[in-house]
This record gives sequence, C-alpha cells and structure tokens, in this order.
Amino acid sequence: MSRKLRKVVFPVAGLGTRFLPATKAVAKEMLPVVDRPLIQYAVDEAVDAGADTLIFVTNRYKHSIADYFDKAYELEAKLEQKGKDELLAQVQGTLPSHVRAVFVTQPEALGLGHAVLCAKPVVGDEPFGVILPDDLISTGGQPSALRQMAELALAQNAGVIAVEEVPNDQTDKYGIVATEGEVGERAARIHHMVEKPKPSEAPTNLGVVGRYVLPGSIFEVLEKTTPGAGGEIQLTDAIETLLKQESMLAYRFAGRRFDCGNKLGLVRATLHLAAKDPQLASAIRDFVAHEPEFAA
Ligand code: G1P
Repeated sequence: MSRKLRKVVFPVAGLGTRFLPATKAVAKEMLPVVDRPLIQYAVDEAVDAGADTLIFVTNRYKHSIADYFDKAYELEAKLEQKGKDELLAQVQGTLPSHVRAVFVTQPEALGLGHAVLCAKPVVGDEPFGVILPDDLISTGGQPSALRQMAELALAQNAGVIAVEEVPNDQTDKYGIVATEGEVGERAARIHHMVEKPKPSEAPTNLGVVGRYVLPGSIFEVLEKTTPGAGGEIQLTDAIETLLKQESMLAYRFAGRRFDCGNKLGLVRATLHLAAKDPQLASAIRDFVAHEPEFAA
C-alpha cells in the first residue's frame, strides 16, 4: 500500500453460537481472556499498527461493545474518589485518547465480505486493516501481527493477508491461498484464493487467519460479489477477483494464533496469557502441573 494504515475494521456482528448459552446475553467479543475482553486484544493490536480510526461493524445485540469503549463517568468518579489510580487507568485506557471509535451496523448477517462492505462510508478509498477478534494473536511484546503486516504492505506496496499452515483435514474451515514467488522470509505472492474448500479440493493447506491489510479498491469488488460458500458474500471471493488488478501477499506472521471462536482455543489462549502474566504465572504453572484432572 502506498499510504500508511490508519483505519481498521472489526466485523463483530456474528452470533457467537459456539459459546451459547453465555452469548445469549454477552457478545462473544466481550468474553474475557484473563482480565480483558477479546475485543480489547484486537483493538490494542490495531493501535500498535498505527490505526487512529477503529470501525466496528456491529448489530443491535452488540451494544456492550460500544459501552465498553465509552467513558464510564460514575465508575471513574468513584475510583478517583477512592484513590484507586491503577484501576482508574485501566478503565480509562480501553481506547487511547488519539483514537476514535466508529460504529456502523450490518443490518443482515450476509457474510464477512458484506460486513466489511458496511464499513465503506467510513474507510473511503484508502488502505485499511481488518481484524477478526476471534483470532487472538500473541506476539509476546514484539510488534503485533497487524503492525508486521502494515509495515510489509507499505514496503512492498501490496495488500497483505495473514496465513498459517492448517491441518490438511481442516481446509474447509478457512480461506485457503496458493502462492508463487517468495518475498523475503515470511511472505509470498498470492495467485489464487478459495473459501473453505474440501480437503480433496484445497490447492494448499495455507489458511487465512483473521488479519488483512486491503486496498480501498476492494469495496468496488465487494459490491459486485455474489454469495459464495455457505450462501454468504465472502471476503475471500472478492480478494480472488481483486488479484487481477492488485498485488496481494500471504504473510506468515511471527506470533501464536489462538482460535478463540471455539472453546478449546479460548481456554488455550487463557492459559497461554496467564502463564505470561507476572502475577499469575507461577500459580498457573503450579495448577497445571498438579491438578489431578491433568494427570496422564
Ligand atoms: C473467516 C474467513 C476465512 C478465514 C477465517 C479465519 O471465516 O471467511 O477465510 O480463514 O475467517 O478465522 P469464519 O471463521 O468467519 O467462518
């Protein structure tokens, strides 16, 4: 991309059926990993990548996300009165002051491509990032995955999609890319992309994870994209079309990805981050080592 990344889109209108009954009343993006909701990890990543405008594509059931990033006057006044400065800083720090949050609605659940298209009036024609908060990527204090991608996009004047190898029998859960021509150690040019192919039809086992740096020209393509896999308007299909006019790179990010869209991934992410938290690390290691349920 020829311009710096300033805007990041978060499609958060999904139903979260894998976490029912919790998601009857709680947005899945508000499920906590240790002490912060999933959406906070995604927002921190976007801010680390340089974004100052965050666009949440949401729906009527997701008001808690807007509430979370809003100022909490009463709570803040109480914490201030009681001198609880550390907690106050945490409550005020969900969104840095130079960053603005914009909420757009996706009136119908017509697919990821459609959700991204809903952000068009805010993004305009500049390059932008997309983060799917379900995919939590831990980089242990190193530059976030989206930042790595934004830097590559600028250096190579190309769109960038995060990928990792997925088990051969799970290609039907991912967008799958085929590449040719390495670009540095971690990237390669994409020449073909397909959404959720059966293992027997998958060109590779290189799966798209929830991070994209895209040119604004994707919107025109999305407007013409018809429903694909699962009857939904797929971002993958639009990118496949865009490949005719734009250069796109598949990028093997440095970091560990946890699929928090399912229970196992959420539990793994929680253990991983708890083991990195100075206040919890030794207790959590002790628990894992001695808990009878974990004995072989
Ligand atoms: C979406 C994308 C898919 C991508 C995946 C990553 O699918 O359509 O290409 O591989 O996210 O998490 P979903 O998981 O929303 O079905």
